[in-house]
Amino acid sequence: IIVTAGPTIEPIDPVRFISNHSSGKMGYALVDAACNKGANVTLISGPVHLKNHPESELIKISTADEMLQAFEKINLKKIDYIFMCAAVSDYSPKNKNSQKIKRENNDLKIECTSAPDIIKIIAKKTDATIIAFALETENGEKNAQKKLKNKNADFIVLNYANEEGAGFNSNTNHVYIYDKNGQSVEFKKDRKDRIAYKILDWVTN
Ligand code: PMT
Repeated sequence: IIVTAGPTIEPIDPVRFISNHSSGKMGYALVDAACNKGANVTLISGPVHLKNHPESELIKISTADEMLQAFEKINLKKIDYIFMCAAVSDYSPKNKNSQKIKRENNDLKIECTSAPDIIKIIAKKTDATIIAFALETENGEKNAQKKLKNKNADFIVLNYANEEGAGFNSNTNHVYIYDKNGQSVEFKKDRKDRIAYKILDWVTN
């Protein structure tokens, strides 16, 4: 099993970056649950303050490009499940300044370029079951279904960034899972460690 977790950070200059609020808690809970069930787990993780399960192999990355490089080093033909729980950047600053950008009197514009859509790229190279995640603030089901299709995933786990006790950083989550055969399930608000077992059981059964 491969699990991705945490944020990616895309540098603007040596002291600033574009990132998000992912704590890694959901992804690390999936790693714990999978290891406890006896799976062989590789965790590809952005910068977080969590300890990985001692039985998992940890690959640390910072940017979306580095996450893609990490996937490229793994023989994806041998993988059964890929849980894409990381909050990967969709955009990356076009020019990474080698020196700190100085304050000027005019506005600052940061031009961004598309980051690699990792799920879309790896889906073509593996027969593994791919579990995408969708973090939404509105029209959750519609957006999640669209991502499930566009990204060629087998399942998508929807959670909301603007719901109390769900999404980023909290110790609990409330999720909906949709699959490409039209089936769906809701797991009501619960601790992320319990939600992790429920997600694993649902997608592996
Ligand atoms: O880490 P926590 O604080 O516990 O929070 C957990 C979580 C909210 C981060 C997690 O449950 C979650 O929703 N993760 C996915 C966040 C996200 O990036 O969602 P998205 O809707 O923007 O992306 C859709 C899917 O495409 C995701 O599986 C993502 O990993 C993947 N993706 C995104 C961008 C990109 N360039 N490549 C990708 O593969």
